[in-house]
Amino acid sequence: MDNWTTSHDRVLAQRNAEGWMFLIEAARDLRATGAIAPSSKALGRLLTDPVDEHGARPLNVLEVGAGTGSVTRTLILRLSPGSRLDIVEANPRFAAQLRRLVRSHPRLAGECERVRVHHTLVERLDTGRRYDVIVSGLPFTNFTPAQVETIMDRYLELLEPGGTLTYFAYRGTRYARTLTAFPAEARRHRAVEDVLAGYQRRYATGCWSVWGNLPPAKVWQLRRPAPSATPTVPAVSSATTVGASR
Ligand SMILES: C[S@@+](CC[C@H](N)C(=O)[O-])C[C@H]1O[C@@H](n2cnc3c(N)ncnc32)[C@H](O)[C@@H]1O
Repeated sequence: MDNWTTSHDRVLAQRNAEGWMFLIEAARDLRATGAIAPSSKALGRLLTDPVDEHGARPLNVLEVGAGTGSVTRTLILRLSPGSRLDIVEANPRFAAQLRRLVRSHPRLAGECERVRVHHTLVERLDTGRRYDVIVSGLPFTNFTPAQVETIMDRYLELLEPGGTLTYFAYRGTRYARTLTAFPAEARRHRAVEDVLAGYQRRYATGCWSVWGNLPPAKVWQLRRPAPSATPTVPAVSSATTVGASR
């Protein structure tokens, strides 16, 4: 077997193991895990695009709800030299997996201290830093409206002026919940979407569909206004993506 085959096999085996790990955690607690499989590369690329958009200067980046690290891997590859990455994950088994990923990632050889994994709820995170980019993988539509409001306000506080937040939601979940869940659950889901719509109206700069994900997802990009910016409603660019294109 040549080197390529062995390393390709290793990557496939690792992806398989992470897929199973995700499924097991989803079976343990679907509400907190929020998905049954890690995000696709296409979704990961779109969520992490703002890292490139901020240019080549060193950035402070925060990833929240990193799971097994599928988006984290894309983020690490896109970090400019001197950047720092804080990763927050509430699930202890995912946090341990993320620490292994950081320790063994070839791009971080000898500089693991630039990337830190925090095993905590994002609501309790206190790094004393502000961020140029926040990438959120949290399953907002499983939360209460008050929880979502608390977290979105905290994100805006943690962002540098001009900083960018990206997050995603699976498409069609509202419809599915209306059909399958108790009325109170469907109402909670709608209320969460209303809360998010308020932030989107004030801060959104883009939203895109990613069909190359299971299930298909919608990515939102929000920007904290810079202090000198005139308070106008930002123009939202909207597009439909297939795979990695934008
Ligand atoms: C939908 S998964 C996304 C995982 C990964 N980012 C991906 O895209 O494959 C949501 C993740 O958020 C984590 N999580 C849920 N609530 C959290 C909270 N309050 N603070 C931090 N992490 C949380 C879950 O444990 C889970 O790993």
